[in-house]
Amino acid sequence: MRRVRVGVVGCGMIAQLVHLPHLTALHERFEVAAVCDREEDLARTVAGRFGVPRTYPGVEEMLAGTPDLDAVVVLTLDHVAAVLAALERGKHVFTEKPLGYTLAEIEQVVAASERTGASVMVGYMKRYDSGVRRGLEEIARITRPVMARVHLVVGPRYGNWIIPELADVTRSPAAADPGPDPRRARVVEEFGAAPQRILEVYMDMFGVWSHDVNLYRAAFPAEPVSVKAHCSPDGTALTATLQYADGFQCVFQGASTGVHRFEESLTVWGEDRTVTVDVTNPFLPNAPSTVRIWRDEPATGTDARGAAREEVVTGSYEEAFRAQLVHFHECVTTPGARPLTDARESLLDTRLMIGMVRAAAD
Ligand SMILES: NC(=O)c1ccc[n+]([C@@H]2O[C@H](COP(=O)([O-])OP(=O)(O)OC[C@H]3O[C@@H](n4cnc5c(N)ncnc54)[C@H](O)[C@@H]3O)[C@@H](O)[C@H]2O)c1
Repeated sequence: MRRVRVGVVGCGMIAQLVHLPHLTALHERFEVAAVCDREEDLARTVAGRFGVPRTYPGVEEMLAGTPDLDAVVVLTLDHVAAVLAALERGKHVFTEKPLGYTLAEIEQVVAASERTGASVMVGYMKRYDSGVRRGLEEIARITRPVMARVHLVVGPRYGNWIIPELADVTRSPAAADPGPDPRRARVVEEFGAAPQRILEVYMDMFGVWSHDVNLYRAAFPAEPVSVKAHCSPDGTALTATLQYADGFQCVFQGASTGVHRFEESLTVWGEDRTVTVDVTNPFLPNAPSTVRIWRDEPATGTDARGAAREEVVTGSYEEAFRAQLVHFHECVTTPGARPLTDARESLLDTRLMIGMVRAAAD
């Protein structure tokens, strides 16, 4: 098997707890040749922990200092600049979600990927979760979908609270005072002047709910003909209704609450069956997502009305974050292969996300 040489940008929480452990465990597929972090002390500490030979203070220095990388893995909070720098040097890119925060910057990434032939995979790991994949297959079997509900309600620190070890991340002293967030300035550019609640809901939509928009669009890729939405005064909750040309409709519910729960599901009601996909908390390693299917059984000689059947399918214990890196390796090593969650899909997700937030602002 061909080993893909990767350089990692950003050595924070998700790098230390998720991607570097999986990249190093998948050593037949990946060689982590370099890491960079704008806090180079942190990069050195993390490199020491994972046996990575080279460290740099930024992506440009890393690309110049280790030019023979095959791919770059972007794990910062704000991704587009590093993604573009890697693409311009012909490197394939895996980036954490969301790809970007404005349509213009995501269009720039799509154009750079198509021009250079280097692929971009966005880290929507739930799409690689076996229970979620099975749920999407069951949804595709529905004869005539009538209505859907996307539901995401999460409590504070939904990973760290249940697994305290997750808070055990090495931070640089500069992390305590990160300064103004450049992402917010670009969101204001995208939206123009918007009330604070809209900016908050925009950040939640892109930060957490984008997973669910991506998952929903995998089942229902068409563009809605009408989007209506409401947002709470503090920007912690948004409900949207989407209406499609064929009459299909969807309710989207996203909220952050103070209750330590993680609720994430997609339910689709159809002519012949109802399917629910319950997605697990991503911080519970190897925990399977579950699919529930309800349908009527045909009438029989002894039961003229037929019985009702409820099936529960539990996904495998394969870890979704690991499975997505295996897919990334396949895409990098197989000519013509295209990531399931590529930049163009992200652009279409982004149009829908902005459509919902804009409808709430209107
Ligand atoms: N897939 C998931 O379920 C999931 C879960 C959590 C976080 N994430 C994503 O992971 C990403 C990182 O989140 P995190 O919690 O690890 O953040 P973090 O703040 O812990 O780590 C980010 C690191 O990047 C470094 N950095 C920032 N800008 C840089 C630059 N220009 N060059 C080099 N280094 C730079 C910072 O110094 C920091 O060490 C986010 O985009 C987040 O959305 C995804």
